[in-house]
Amino acid sequence: MKEKGGEFVWFDNKFVKWEDAKVPVYTHAMHYGTAVFEGIRGYASSSSNAAAKSGKNNVYIFRLKEHMERLHRSAKVYSFSLPYSADELYDATVELLRKNRMKESVYIRPLAFVGMHGIDLNVTASSPTQTVIIAFPFAKYFKGEGIRACVSSWRRINDATTPPLSKAAGNYLNSILATQESRRNGYDESILLDLAGNVSEASGENIFLVRNKKIYTPYFADSALEGITRDSAMTIARELGYEVTERPIPRAELYMADEIFLTGTAAEIVPVTSVDGKPVGDGKEGPVSRSVRETYANIVTGGSKDHMDWLTPVW
Ligand SMILES: Cc1ncc(COP(=O)(O)O)c(C=O)c1O
Repeated sequence: MKEKGGEFVWFDNKFVKWEDAKVPVYTHAMHYGTAVFEGIRGYASSSSNAAAKSGKNNVYIFRLKEHMERLHRSAKVYSFSLPYSADELYDATVELLRKNRMKESVYIRPLAFVGMHGIDLNVTASSPTQTVIIAFPFAKYFKGEGIRACVSSWRRINDATTPPLSKAAGNYLNSILATQESRRNGYDESILLDLAGNVSEASGENIFLVRNKKIYTPYFADSALEGITRDSAMTIARELGYEVTERPIPRAELYMADEIFLTGTAAEIVPVTSVDGKPVGDGKEGPVSRSVRETYANIVTGGSKDHMDWLTPVW
């Protein structure tokens, strides 16, 4: 990681100085990608938040419990044993931010990996694993008001090979190929099709289309991750009165949509303004995307009374 981040890293139930958090070159995950991870955000409270108004700024970790539970589900697919429960990892994350005296918006990266298992591919529940949680200050992932996407010539990995539902480190080689191609060709992000040719997701985000004010997103069976921002956006959109339907999305619909937006922890909710050079709608963020994005932004920073159960205050 380029970012040095906080002074301390949580490493196998201990707080270790950043420069001392090291692993041997024999680490299995380094050779085979045998790791699962999460990406979580902590948001500095918004200025409209009651606590912030009284001068008591806080940091809210977004859906921390759900992220730690997904980490466990990802590990189960590969029979990696995680010696720490989701609740223990939840507590460790809050402690880590306190220990690092973090009061700004942060990105949190829990990572569980197979350690000293030699070169043997038979990873079992008794193979040694290590768990680390890193946190560092983080702002916007995509710059600008909307992103220019392309359809990747790479296909999304598939449940028949390396299941995209498990957030495994090795899966990201597929995302890296797609990202390299999109940047090389002057785009901000790539949209991947599944093996059947339907839209699955972007390299690190889920995707939503809007047609006639109705919202559509692919099924998990279309090789999409069970995104926590996806779930949040679906909940918010329904509360705002929109119909949200999961269904297969053929590629050509990307060129017909009134609006497209992506959802992900790092990217948050971001409008796609063109696909393969064709403008989406009128080439600007549309009203449906805007209302979901603004409601989400307000919730995550503690500016709304709704969904306070999604937030874990650090201070
Ligand atoms: C491939 C992929 N899809 C979707 C997402 C969005 O998931 P989430 O909203 O849980 O961050 C991510 C981000 O983690 C991702 O890497």
